[in-house]
Amino acid sequence: MAEDKGLAAAWAAVEALARRPRPDGTAPHSIRPLLAADPDRFGRFSWTVDGLLLDLSKTSLDDRALAALLALAGAADLAGKRDAMARGEAINATERRAVLHMALRGAGGFRTGEEDASAEVAAVLARMRDFCAAVHGGALRGATGERFTDVLNIGIGGSDLGPAMATRTLWREGAPLRAHYLGNVDAHAWEAIRPRLDPARTLVLVASKTFTTQETMTNAALVRNWLRAAVGEGAGQHLAALSTNLAATAEFGIAPDRVFPFRDWVGGRFSLWSAIGLSIALAIGWEGFERLLAGARAMDAHFLSAPLAQNLPVLLALAEVWHVNGLGYPARAVLPYDQRLARLPAHLQQLEMESLGKRVTLDGAPVGRATGPVVFGEPGTDAQHSFMQLIHQGTTPVPCDIILVARPDHPHADSHRKLLANGLAQAKALMRGKDAAAVEAEMRAAGADAAEIARLLPHRVFPGDRPTATILLPQLDPFTLGQLVALYEHKVFSLGALWGINAFDQWGVELGKQLAGPILRALEQGAPAAGAQDGSTTGLLRTISGLLAG
Ligand code: F6P
Repeated sequence: MAEDKGLAAAWAAVEALARRPRPDGTAPHSIRPLLAADPDRFGRFSWTVDGLLLDLSKTSLDDRALAALLALAGAADLAGKRDAMARGEAINATERRAVLHMALRGAGGFRTGEEDASAEVAAVLARMRDFCAAVHGGALRGATGERFTDVLNIGIGGSDLGPAMATRTLWREGAPLRAHYLGNVDAHAWEAIRPRLDPARTLVLVASKTFTTQETMTNAALVRNWLRAAVGEGAGQHLAALSTNLAATAEFGIAPDRVFPFRDWVGGRFSLWSAIGLSIALAIGWEGFERLLAGARAMDAHFLSAPLAQNLPVLLALAEVWHVNGLGYPARAVLPYDQRLARLPAHLQQLEMESLGKRVTLDGAPVGRATGPVVFGEPGTDAQHSFMQLIHQGTTPVPCDIILVARPDHPHADSHRKLLANGLAQAKALMRGKDAAAVEAEMRAAGADAAEIARLLPHRVFPGDRPTATILLPQLDPFTLGQLVALYEHKVFSLGALWGINAFDQWGVELGKQLAGPILRALEQGAPAAGAQDGSTTGLLRTISGLLAG
């Protein structure tokens, strides 16, 4: 279906602003002139909600661009689509499902059709709380009577990345349980975890929305054998399941009172707040898990009620549209300046790329413009010593999200000041760059002669005008992590609404799964049947089979 006229005009206005110089003659992608001209730019282009600050003053957004982007949000009916999501409408149209991860945060009042989603959530949360209390208090023990000291979560994708990221961020010495995450079907992963676990003291959660995922079911069978070898038929006392597929959990042999369900209106990459988050609660304690939900709930309330011009997830999404569709930047880097957030980029890679890696609109027409950018990242300062070279001087501008935490949880003030200084300096360096005059002056001061300056000058110039969004948290705790992750979730929703795509399905992951079946059979048989595979795959299979045999 052709784009609605008003929407097409709104897109054209944004694209035109990004192509033409500004009225003062500066380039539409430039940032330095905006900061130079407006002493209050930080005040006007940063927003704080419940202590979380978003600063877009080091982007090239100006008043006109922001107004055009907000008009686009209006033309795309972003607010209407948001409200339809909150009303439990089946906005995931290709799967005919509602999208209600907000209900998981416990605000109450979420329904879908006849179903009281909030009541179901409350019932499961109460069971999770009781289960945690029983494990932590020692009422629930392993088959040999020992208390559980470790929890192993077996899951992949959304059944792994969110909980693993949150636990890594929030776990502190003295927390109730140690948590381990097994995702990859590569048994090297299991072999790396196994020596750290005593089966008599390990609680195993099989986390899978579908309970059919090959990697998870293979690992679950491996681990169940390991439990059985140690505690025999008592293995069941060490197992619990987190899933929507109650028939499959029963078939796997997990008792119904050990199954923590959630519904198909929770997408895998949005599921850390559901039963899938049980490992987080077991590891950090129930109170921490509740604070995590509270942080997300606070961001939900903001997203649902704040005017779009002051709505953090919407503003973050509009900046992305400016970068991707206006200026043609194809990637974004996430740089948390906090080691505890080391797995946040991995979680956001799935959240953003599985959601926004789409090429048709909701009605199946080609989307006609770029959608989700490549997302990658590493904690700062590590990133500075690896890929930041390309972001400073490469030919592809890569906007960065720089995430700073003001107050650390350690006593090493000097280290923390250096960390913050580096994060702030990266944003400044990317924005300001270094021009030829500055490089020349610096080299002259260091005693370089004219020939040397001429030789090195092009290599030492930084173009600058490279955008960053800074997100500042007062401290990193369950509440602020909940806010931060929900901020990105609602940003993803907003981008889906702006691009007119379905951010909640993931058909693109299916083909590889289908094709793996016949290839697995060829590996089991030791050779591919003639003509069964393409020439390249056949060649590789034959070579691998030869190496396995030899
Ligand atoms: O294959 C992709 C995917 O379906 C993700 O969307 C999901 O998070 C992951 O696999 C795991 O799925 P499940 O929780 O059903 O095992």
